[in-house]
Amino acid sequence: MAERLISLPKDAGLLGEMIATSFQYPENPAWSVQTDEKEGLADTVAGIRRLWPLIRIAQVFTPSLRNLLRGYFWEEENRTAGIVIAQPRGKSRNWMVTTVATHPDFRRRGIARKLVNAILAFVRREGGRQVALDVIAGNLPAYKLYESVGFRHFTSMFELEIPAAPAAPAPQFPEGYRLLPLDMMDWQTRYDLEKRIIPAAVQEFETVDPARYQQPAILRLILPLINRIQGTRMVDRSIQHIASGQTVGRMTVTARTKPGGRHNLAARLDPAHAHLAPALLTGLLHEVAQGSAGQVIQMTVMGWQPELLAAAHAAGFKTRIEFHRMGLTLPQAGK
Ligand SMILES: CC(C)(COP(=O)(O)OP(=O)(O)OC[C@H]1O[C@@H](n2cnc3c(N)ncnc32)[C@H](O)[C@@H]1OP(=O)(O)O)[C@@H](O)C(=O)NCCC(=O)NCCS
Repeated sequence: MAERLISLPKDAGLLGEMIATSFQYPENPAWSVQTDEKEGLADTVAGIRRLWPLIRIAQVFTPSLRNLLRGYFWEEENRTAGIVIAQPRGKSRNWMVTTVATHPDFRRRGIARKLVNAILAFVRREGGRQVALDVIAGNLPAYKLYESVGFRHFTSMFELEIPAAPAAPAPQFPEGYRLLPLDMMDWQTRYDLEKRIIPAAVQEFETVDPARYQQPAILRLILPLINRIQGTRMVDRSIQHIASGQTVGRMTVTARTKPGGRHNLAARLDPAHAHLAPALLTGLLHEVAQGSAGQVIQMTVMGWQPELLAAAHAAGFKTRIEFHRMGLTLPQAGK
């Protein structure tokens, strides 16, 4: 009958189990956690367990890593009845609530409301200022809950998918542009691009400041290990407008290197260079096809990037789920 802090690595298995059993929607099967997503989740759980000693050491030197997967379980009748997880973005005061769920046997008893309030209090104690989350458009129970706690819908996010990697040629960017490797520690390029292209109405809820993009230096050592254990390969590229030297887009591929699971794609594109969208999609598909064992490819596109959405649909992607992104600003600690 109370919340308890999630404690890793011992809770890693329970965490995976709660997500797999609670994110099931009998009336909307497409929303449910799918079999291949469960495979990816199992690899993440295994990765947390195996890497935890290393993460603990990293946390001693890097305070911002201490908030990796922070959250609570709700315990009721000696069972785990609910879960909430939040995570800061980089070193910023901007947090994302990534998971909220109540086990089907315990719904409508106020558990999710208590967990959401508990995590907001936690974030506030940690100095967090803005909190955002994604809720499936049409998930009325969750939407109503968040709205009643003070969250407001400010943009959308689309999760698209395509059954398997279609053969895609190497991308041909129009003359005057080139593709460059983007180092995982190069926060400045990511920051400059997003500061320029994210609409003001979105930045109001999600402040674009350097801290959001700066990653702890230790990640350069840990991330390759995490990727190896999880069976993923990450590729990050930027698109440069050669004449001005300006970065006008970026593409990120998180591809599976093991059988099972799903590939993930993400991109950003300056709307002033919207004509690059088809080449960007070809580039993503070309990259993910290298060594693919036929997994489903998933891509997330923000609602404020309609040109990317249209190009993804033209490349054969179908919208699987539309999310509303909601946010709130916390009162300053001490007020
Ligand atoms: C959404 C979910 C977390 C709610 O959990 P819960 O513990 O049953 O919610 P609570 O009992 O704390 O209810 C809090 C508020 O949510 C809303 N709510 C919850 N269930 C609802 C329902 N079936 N219909 C309408 N509103 C509902 C109400 O506003 C409720 O407040 P009220 O009881 O004062 O009217 C739960 O249904 C769930 O786990 N769903 C599957 C996973 C999921 O979709 N998570 C959200 C991801 S964004």
